[in-house]
Amino acid sequence: MRVFITGASSGIGEALARYYARQGATLGLVARRSELLQTLAAQLDVPAAIYALDVRDAEALTQATADFIQKYGVPDIVIANAGVSRGTLTESQQDIAAFKAIMEINVLGLVHTFQPFIAGMKQRGSGSLVGIASVAGIRGLPGAGAYSASKAAAIAYLESLRVEMQKIGIVVTTIAPGYIKTPMTDVNTYRMPFLMDAGIAAAKMAKAISAKRRFVVIPWQMGWLARFMRFIPPFLWDWALRNAPKKAHLDWDWL
Ligand SMILES: NC(=O)c1ccc[n+]([C@@H]2O[C@H](COP(=O)([O-])OP(=O)(O)OC[C@H]3O[C@@H](n4cnc5c(N)ncnc54)[C@H](OP(=O)(O)O)[C@@H]3O)[C@@H](O)[C@H]2O)c1
Repeated sequence: MRVFITGASSGIGEALARYYARQGATLGLVARRSELLQTLAAQLDVPAAIYALDVRDAEALTQATADFIQKYGVPDIVIANAGVSRGTLTESQQDIAAFKAIMEINVLGLVHTFQPFIAGMKQRGSGSLVGIASVAGIRGLPGAGAYSASKAAAIAYLESLRVEMQKIGIVVTTIAPGYIKTPMTDVNTYRMPFLMDAGIAAAKMAKAISAKRRFVVIPWQMGWLARFMRFIPPFLWDWALRNAPKKAHLDWDWL
């Protein structure tokens, strides 16, 4: 099995890399922090090509794809997991740059990751494209307008892609995690319901991918909450979230 994963230097992506390595998969690992990728690859007992790049750079992903295919062949699974989450407020002029960066990484990053693999998968007539969205994309969360909007866009984009790909044998799986314990959530000071270990989440994600699920929320308890969230009317949503805690504004060096 060949698996290509973006955002593999930490959190969910790293846990997925470790999970698939235990299954004996050959890996392609993408992130910006090359030292973390090198350390991870050195710990895995499987062939692993590392690509230190930014998913905003479509050309870099095209080159990484070509290199991976030339070395190992067309992957069976491509997981577009790289993403960022920061608090943003529309009233703050300096947050405009953050809005742009979050949308580019969390939405265009998916397109840049999948696009170069589609021709090879199409020719072979098989393959799985997996996008990591979020429960935050189901309804707008206060203080996280950019993140919620990016994940809502990711969910809709992945659905369009899923329908487009169905006739050519490519399966598209949308995974919407709730709260998973990673560096992304370690900074949250509020209570996170159903917080799940990243290793356990990765195993559940892999199971959903091999079952060719179209849309899955992990953990399942959050799935029920997400179903409820989807259907409550706007006035009730506004009332329920009137005092909701907001994601912290963090450093800006990631832009
Ligand atoms: N943890 C949760 O509770 C949760 C819930 C819902 C959805 N998610 C989603 O799950 C995915 C993984 O998040 P995580 O919790 O594992 O967070 P994380 O530990 O912060 O990992 C994020 C990964 O994305 C990579 N990344 C970020 N920006 C990138 C860029 N421009 N180019 C290339 N790689 C980039 C990071 O690597 P570098 O910094 O080295 O580039 C890192 O490997 C994200 O899409 C996130 O939105 C997480």
